[in-house]
Amino acid sequence: MEPPERYRAIVDDFAAFRAACERPLPSAVRVNTITATVADVRAALEAAGVAYEPVDWHEELFVLPDDSPGANWPYFHGWIHGQEEVSAVPAAVLAPEPGERVWDACAAPGSKATQLAALMDDRGEVVATDNNLGRISALRTNTERLGTTNIAVTHEDARNHSLKPFGGAEYDRALPFGGAEYDRALVDVPCSCEGTIRKNPDAFDEWSMSHVRGISGVQKDILERAVQATKAGGSVVYSTCTFAPEENEAVLDHVLDSEDCELVEFDLPLDHRGGVTEWQGEEFDPSVRLAKRIYPHFNDTGGFFCAKLEVTG
Ligand SMILES: C[S@@+](CC[C@H](N)C(=O)[O-])C[C@H]1O[C@@H](n2cnc3c(N)ncnc32)[C@H](O)[C@@H]1O
Repeated sequence: MEPPERYRAIVDDFAAFRAACERPLPSAVRVNTITATVADVRAALEAAGVAYEPVDWHEELFVLPDDSPGANWPYFHGWIHGQEEVSAVPAAVLAPEPGERVWDACAAPGSKATQLAALMDDRGEVVATDNNLGRISALRTNTERLGTTNIAVTHEDARNHSLKPFGGAEYDRALPFGGAEYDRALVDVPCSCEGTIRKNPDAFDEWSMSHVRGISGVQKDILERAVQATKAGGSVVYSTCTFAPEENEAVLDHVLDSEDCELVEFDLPLDHRGGVTEWQGEEFDPSVRLAKRIYPHFNDTGGFFCAKLEVTG
């Protein structure tokens, strides 16, 4: 069975879910606190005649009801970045501190990497990896436009990410980026993108079970590498913009088995449901309930999945 029908059994108010999937997604922007304050951006949007609406759960996000996010001067000056509401969730959940070392394993085009840099006051290091050169070009453009100085871009397959260029596992102040394992990692994997249906109406038509199965293997390998590269006690946030349990809870279940880590609770001030512990006859580790599923009809957003892991060994 194909989406959206295959999710009838796990989505509350399925008719409202289907209706929301057919509505276009409002444009949203994030204030880039490296170059501007929320007050600066409000004043600039008003001066430019751009209507904006605040977002309840995140004071640095605005919805632009009548405008596209990249069509105004605060965007060109790097004061704002077009980023939909749910896309701002994972970096907020990872909550890096200034001065830390953070790996963004699938970083292009950089919405979340630049948000991480802003949360860190542009201090410490964000290693932003992607395996797609074309998308890396967009990532570089965004890091420059937004004025970040603590992001290092690497072009590699995250499954084989090596700490060697940074000096191995031990921290050494003389080495670029100190050479140490990461304090935190963000794993915003490639996925079947079902949750982007409101901005990409072809998302369900392009869906195939063989793609879901294939990408789920890639997701498992990238998440495993992120857990291995993060120090004990550090945090790893896993996210997708899809509803498929094969790419969400099944990936978590796999990594809970193969690596030293556990799922942890986190606050999410958006309406959501917990992860599903059973799907098409397969049972997952009960702790996958701690993951959060965000459906389009709950908060008038895109669809999203987010989980937080703590590295234990
Ligand atoms: C969901 S997008 C990331 C969006 C990004 N985090 C942001 O907020 O702007 C997934 C990214 O993973 C990249 N990707 C796919 N396979 C990868 C791999 N094996 N290693 C590293 N990156 C990969 C894709 O090129 C794509 O840019």
